[in-house]
Amino acid sequence: MTSQTLREARKYEEASGKLIREEERPDFHLTPRTGWMNDPNGFSYYKGQYHMFYQYYPYESKWGPMHWGHAVSNDLLHWEYLPCALAPDEAYDRDGCFSGSAVVLPDGRHLLMYTGVLKEHEERDIYREVQTQCIAVGDGIDYEKCEQNPVIGEKDIPEGSSRFDFRDPKMWKKADGTYACVVGNRPADGSGQILLYNSADGFHWKFKSVLASNHGRFGKMWECPDFFELDGKWVLLTSPQDMLPQGFEYHNGNGTLCMVGDYNEEDGTFIEMHNQSVDYGIDFYAPQTVLAPDGRRIMIGWMQNWDSCSMRSPEDPWFGQMSLPRELSLKNGRLYQRPVRELDAMRHGKVEYTDVAVSGVVKLDGMKGRRVDMELAVRPVDGEDLYQKFAVRFAQDDTCYTSLSFRPRESILKVDRKSSGSRRAIIHQRRALVNNPNGELRLRIILDRFSVEVFVGDGEQVLTATMYTKQEADGISFFADGTANIDVVKYEL
Ligand code: FRU
Repeated sequence: MTSQTLREARKYEEASGKLIREEERPDFHLTPRTGWMNDPNGFSYYKGQYHMFYQYYPYESKWGPMHWGHAVSNDLLHWEYLPCALAPDEAYDRDGCFSGSAVVLPDGRHLLMYTGVLKEHEERDIYREVQTQCIAVGDGIDYEKCEQNPVIGEKDIPEGSSRFDFRDPKMWKKADGTYACVVGNRPADGSGQILLYNSADGFHWKFKSVLASNHGRFGKMWECPDFFELDGKWVLLTSPQDMLPQGFEYHNGNGTLCMVGDYNEEDGTFIEMHNQSVDYGIDFYAPQTVLAPDGRRIMIGWMQNWDSCSMRSPEDPWFGQMSLPRELSLKNGRLYQRPVRELDAMRHGKVEYTDVAVSGVVKLDGMKGRRVDMELAVRPVDGEDLYQKFAVRFAQDDTCYTSLSFRPRESILKVDRKSSGSRRAIIHQRRALVNNPNGELRLRIILDRFSVEVFVGDGEQVLTATMYTKQEADGISFFADGTANIDVVKYEL
């Protein structure tokens, strides 16, 4: 039965979504049908299509009582909106349906698990949000919340752990047909931990173990965990709040963390061997993965960061974008990401230059656009001194540009959007340490109207940033202090 709250949201989004013109949105990055979007939720493959749900407040372009928006795609790049899937309409979730995930049941139904939020009165005008895990079952369009909700509650948390920070369940189906899920939580010391639960049927859940804890490292509360096997190891992704910086690896504020290690399923423990950031740019948070039918592990993140949401004004008709879907792999114990191969089919209008010597500013015929897939190789010139700096500028006109600059002596690659037209005093630059044998660097740069995603080398690092420069600013130019040789292949998308 559809509630009044859900019916209203569906009616509103249908009318309001129509008012947004296609050119006002990115082309192949998912945005909310209308209003506000944050985390990807319920990313799954169901009835022959990819389903993406998202944290959604349809009524304004700012965060509000959370619903789940819904879209489907055949290729992860062209999305079709479906009606809003969940609304905060039950006694146990009336203050929000927070992040969660989806699996397919053996009887063909789609099972969603999400965090139900309920404000509890503490004293005078102080309220705290109690968070529990709830489920809903559906057919890919309509979902029914289950009577036994919440299915994981206060009694299922280890002693001393917080019932106010207990959210974002990510489920998966195990090889034996039973289910497991990981949930973000805060232990008594106020830091972060990931709890592991098991279930025989997806409906009845039992606490198994504390899978991982932050031991004073990597921020405080750990949000939006994901846990999966990849190339013979196990990968734990989580998005920590309140990070302190660590060199060029981790930055302040909300970050993304990837830990690679071994998983002992018997006792529910994870032995971490390596950790790294998931994305080294400005806008990437709360990623979630899906296992594609062909075995690829594909990740999409919220292409935004909580601390820089003010880049866009509440008057804009939509807020929040999903990142490009990225294929994951491990190489030498490190996480690698590549744009999904489906993107190759969108490439057209090839422009290619080989061995161009860049010294000072260089513009090349045909190099422009705001929906672009560009492969760029930079190297020093034989017999000449190593160049000091190389840069590529894009989304450029007489006053605006966003740039990527590289200093080979320091091995630093920087994304900088301070001249993108932003009028806010927020983070506009971020730097990453990159591998570059003798000043040689390969980049794949993807633009889609309001964003740039930079894949370094074979995808060993990614830097992502949004920019809201007007679309007429479509110039691309190259610069070197000293001389650098470049090969560049550019496609329109
Ligand atoms: C992460 C997050 C989640 C929560 C959701 C609420 O961005 O804070 O932990 O479920 O957003 O919208």
